[in-house]
Amino acid sequence: MKGIVLAGGNGTRLYPLTRLLSKQMLPVYDKPMIHYPISTLMQAGIREILLISTPHHIGSFKTLLGDGSSFGVHLEYAVQPKPEGLAQALIIGEDFICGEHSALILGDNLFYGQELPAKLQRAAALKSGAVIFGVPVSDPQRYGIIEIDPAGHVRTIEEKPAAPRSRIAVPGLYFYDGQAAEIAKQVRPSARGELEITSVNRAYLERGLLHAEMLDKDCACFDMGTFDSLLAAGQFVRERQIETGIRVGDPAETAIQNGWLEENAEGT
Ligand code: G1P
Repeated sequence: MKGIVLAGGNGTRLYPLTRLLSKQMLPVYDKPMIHYPISTLMQAGIREILLISTPHHIGSFKTLLGDGSSFGVHLEYAVQPKPEGLAQALIIGEDFICGEHSALILGDNLFYGQELPAKLQRAAALKSGAVIFGVPVSDPQRYGIIEIDPAGHVRTIEEKPAAPRSRIAVPGLYFYDGQAAEIAKQVRPSARGELEITSVNRAYLERGLLHAEMLDKDCACFDMGTFDSLLAAGQFVRERQIETGIRVGDPAETAIQNGWLEENAEGT
């Protein structure tokens, strides 16, 4: 399975912080934001990762992360010329994915939970179709929203609905079989002019191949795209680290846990 981190966008909601820096470079307590989604993919067991960013910011990611060897992974880079939607990452990454299964994570999403690595590894073992997650939120108009029937199957999926059918949001982490790039190429731009990842997920739903897993109460999930959520995520990381003595979202530590790096290896 291949992994893609999308670290694009203009980050306008975080101006002036993001006038100079990419949003995904901003500090979240003691690490750059981008470390968290990379670490999440690694927890799923993914070692080959493509990082996609803007033409302006891609160079600073290469400087920060290099070829990934300090995290025991292989990192490649690609550019998204304009912020034309999350689904475009699957098209940009088509040659990298090369028909394999893939996971796409948004560069501003933080996931945390004791049971999370096992859940992610189960999702990564999917045979066909797509696996998405569901998290209850209080502001469903901001997210992709799913409605689930009593048997736990997804009934509908909508992007930022004005009249949400539920409060179950789909966070920015998606697992796909080898069809994802082909499906993304069929997607037409939405009213906001973007290739929506929700349209890709709906195509899987229409084929009867969209699986949703609820993230438990002990699982935390932040999109760090606003001042408040950025601050809340930083405070959350600090508290968890003090409480558990384990670093949160640290790719070098995840590499050691996965047995991909020795504890005393260079760069850790
Ligand atoms: C995107 C997706 C949305 C998803 C959200 C998670 O929204 O379009 O479906 O729920 O990420 O963070 P955006 O943050 O790009 O508005």
